[in-house]
Amino acid sequence: MYRDISKKQLETTVALLQQGGLVALPTETVYGLAADASNEHAVSKIFKAKGRPSNHPVIVHIGSIDQLNQWAKDIPDYALKLAKTFWPGPMTLILKKQKSVLDAITGGQDSVGIRIPSNPIMQKVLQRFDGGLAAPSANRFGHISPSSARHVKQSLGDNVDLIIDGGPTSIGIESTIIDCTGNHPRILRHGMITENDIEKAAGLTILKNTSDAPRVSGALKSHYSPVTKTFLANAQDITKHLQDNRSIVVLSRSKPNVNKVIIHDARIPTRSTQYQGKQHWIIMPNDAQAYAHSLYEQLHFADNLACDALLIEEVPNTMRWKGINDRLKKASA
Ligand code: TXA
Ligand code: MG
Repeated sequence: MYRDISKKQLETTVALLQQGGLVALPTETVYGLAADASNEHAVSKIFKAKGRPSNHPVIVHIGSIDQLNQWAKDIPDYALKLAKTFWPGPMTLILKKQKSVLDAITGGQDSVGIRIPSNPIMQKVLQRFDGGLAAPSANRFGHISPSSARHVKQSLGDNVDLIIDGGPTSIGIESTIIDCTGNHPRILRHGMITENDIEKAAGLTILKNTSDAPRVSGALKSHYSPVTKTFLANAQDITKHLQDNRSIVVLSRSKPNVNKVIIHDARIPTRSTQYQGKQHWIIMPNDAQAYAHSLYEQLHFADNLACDALLIEEVPNTMRWKGINDRLKKASA
């Protein structure tokens, strides 16, 4: 399923980025809409293409830890420990910014979000580009994040100069964002790295979130929303809705106990949306990692079924499911 980038594609991508263009690129979390982070005009195009408010900061992606000091300063020891443990990977650190970092990147704040992604295509592009790439998720503001090139095309279409198809992303939900501007780490957005792992790597306890947290659009109450009215539901709610004969689509880790629904299996990549409306049941994986991997693909699919409602069955309330729980709450807010 994973696709590599050809030499020619790599050259085209880097040239476009150097000229201030917008390229959608795969990362291990979700697809990013990338532009040269030191080119103000290029960065402004990201906001335009996404329809995103201009005061929302964007993450700068770099190729190696040697470049960290070009973007951030006064980096605490625990942040370096986190960097060494989880980079390259699905983690973003919020650090004090260097003076040269553009306001368009930081949203006018004195911090900057940095990530070293592990996706091999993104890595190749970063190595060749040899600078920072600003990249938010490659979707229209407020919509479901893209875990495939097809999702990017659906959401952004011609607003992008180039879309690189690297197949479905491996992790599937956005990076864990950790604020490292204080004496202790603080989680601004949960992802697939657990609090235990963070505390272990940092050698410090995590600070509880307070309301003066920096602006994180991913922390808005409603985000990542399908167009279909979406609800978190338990088994009883679901049974009731099915009995009401409304056109619904259910996302559940178990099998339906009625036989009139159209069953889809999340492990089968492409399925037909020809039976729009009606009653659909998408069987989700039981394991948190596999669930996260397929979540956005299934939300996009469910949305395309154009039912009256999307019911997502609750998932375990444990640490491993925190990032997923967070996305489900936002999708149904
Ligand atoms: O996995 C990810 O993080 C993906 C891939 C493409 O790297 N990117 C991503 O970007 O999710 P975006 O812009 O959709 O979400 C990043 C979040 C935003 O909510 C933004 O407000 C927050 O990070 N952020 C960026 N810089 C920040 C800063 N200096 N302080 C606080 N929040 C920041
Ligand atoms: Mg986003």
